[in-house]
Amino acid sequence: MRKWYGIIGDPIEHTLSPMMHEHWFKKAGLSSLYLAFHVNRSQLARAVEGMKVLGIGGFNVTVPHKSAIIPFLDEIDDEARMIGAVNTVVHANGRLIGYNTDGTGFLRSLVTRYPKLAERKPSVLLLGAGGAARAVALTLAKYMALRIDIANRTLEKAIRLSGACRAFCPSEGLDLSEVSGLLYKYDIVINATSTGLYPDLDSSPVRIENTRKETLFADIIYKPCRTAFLRQAEKKGNPIINGLPMLIEQGALAFEKWTGLKPDTGEMENLLQLTLKRKSDGC
Ligand code: ATR
Repeated sequence: MRKWYGIIGDPIEHTLSPMMHEHWFKKAGLSSLYLAFHVNRSQLARAVEGMKVLGIGGFNVTVPHKSAIIPFLDEIDDEARMIGAVNTVVHANGRLIGYNTDGTGFLRSLVTRYPKLAERKPSVLLLGAGGAARAVALTLAKYMALRIDIANRTLEKAIRLSGACRAFCPSEGLDLSEVSGLLYKYDIVINATSTGLYPDLDSSPVRIENTRKETLFADIIYKPCRTAFLRQAEKKGNPIINGLPMLIEQGALAFEKWTGLKPDTGEMENLLQLTLKRKSDGC
């Protein structure tokens, strides 16, 4: 029987996941389907039950269901439980198992593109303390960072997230409005706030000043392909990386969990860049 997979979210119209997974299934010689489902919060439990009963192979979960889905799954992997969010579900032996590949996807995007930086245990400043920031912060704290400081507009949330990171490495919670002059202290500065997300092309969470030339500036946003945050860093001559590699790596990790196969992420980056360019969201 033909296997099927999907993604649930609200909104879901603009997701690139179906294109990515269908391409990988085809490349692997599999006839599996991958569909996008618009599911609102009040229908979440019934949608999950329905997909299970109808024999879905697995699915991705996106905003706003990543935390809300947890009670409706049969098992939650340790990493997803630590993060408090699920973005990938595997249906195996009649059980739905929740994973989180967002943080690991971001980690992989750094490790594959900047292996030396990752190896030498960098000090990291993460901007933001929402759901996406939590996945990135805890994963980097656990696997890569020498220290990770969290800066957020709402200071209490930064303090809470840095407290969780301290299980793995030193971490301090900072006020977002006070970090602009401190950027020189860090090897990597990451924007994990929603500031600068399309169509807001001009806002940046911080003014970039007082940096070292080699500090890497990363954004988890891929639309626009260069946020105002990344454009400032690029102008200063610093290396930059946007959210597209993270999107692809988190998808690749989900694909691996469903099929046991490693998809070609380099080819996918070119493909998605072309697609975004065609929609005039590319660089
Ligand atoms: P996501 O799931 O995308 O992480 P979220 O959980 O709503 O979304 O988190 C959004 C993040 O962007 C938060 O860190 C938020 O800061 P607050 O905790 O203070 O709300 C941050 N953010 C959103 N708009 C912002 C703005 N205009 N300036 C600075 N930070 C902003």
